[in-house]
Amino acid sequence: MTVRVCITGQPVSYSRSPLLHGYWLKAYGIDGAYAREEVPAAEAADFYRSLAARGYAGCNVTAPNKEIAFSVLDEADESAAALGAANTLWLEDGRLCGASTDGYGFTANLDATAPGWDAERRTALVLGAGGASRAVVHALVGRGFGRVVLANRTLERAEVLARLFGPSVRPLAFDQVETVMGDADILVNCTSLGMKGSAPLDLDLGKLRAESVVSDIVYVPLVTPLLKAAAAHGFRTVDGLGMLLHQGVPGFRRWFGVTPEVTADLRDVLVEDLRAKGQLEA
Ligand code: ATR
Repeated sequence: MTVRVCITGQPVSYSRSPLLHGYWLKAYGIDGAYAREEVPAAEAADFYRSLAARGYAGCNVTAPNKEIAFSVLDEADESAAALGAANTLWLEDGRLCGASTDGYGFTANLDATAPGWDAERRTALVLGAGGASRAVVHALVGRGFGRVVLANRTLERAEVLARLFGPSVRPLAFDQVETVMGDADILVNCTSLGMKGSAPLDLDLGKLRAESVVSDIVYVPLVTPLLKAAAAHGFRTVDGLGMLLHQGVPGFRRWFGVTPEVTADLRDVLVEDLRAKGQLEA
């Protein structure tokens, strides 16, 4: 019987998850289907509670439903519990289980594309204090970084987020970012700056150390102004597309019983889709 899964949220039209999971289903010859379901927040709790009745073995969850999905789970994994949000749901003996795989996707992508990025684990500099930042900070703390500096335009939001994680996470006003750059092993952009249609993230990267890694979770455009500037300085750069690919691995394994591989060919397929839509460059 065909195993059916879907991406849920609003909007889902832009989502690359059907392309990603569709690629793996074909590559592994699995009898599965991955659909799109437009689910407004007001209908989300009901939708997730009735996944099985709707014929789904599980789903992915995107904005604005990640917190709502978490709230209706029978069982949450450690990441979902820590973040109060879930992006991957599946059924186990009729119980609704959920995980947050964004943080896993973030670190797995760095491990794959910038080996040694965490050799020192002294200081990580994270820009932004929204949901994406929360997942990234959780992953960096979990990886053992001694200090995660969390810089945000609205300082209070960074303070609130930092408090959830304890003393290793330190809030910082956005205009003070350049003062800690010299300590950063890794700089991660989790703001919407640099996204197509938004202003670029304008920082003087000259203050980073030569071995620092610069990472952006934005992947539209694929090469953000930040990554372009970092490459021009000679820093190792890691784009946001890899995080998207890797965050899909745990879900696919749960639903279809195969641990899929993130290959160069898969990445090429996604890059081609970005190119076709004019989303490679800013
Ligand atoms: P998500 O949940 O996807 O991470 P979000 O909660 O909307 O998205 O967070 C967006 C982040 O980008 C926030 O950290 C936001 O800063 P504020 O908390 O001050 O709003 C940041 N951001 C958006 N526009 C920005 C700008 N022009 N300058 C600096 N930061 C900006």
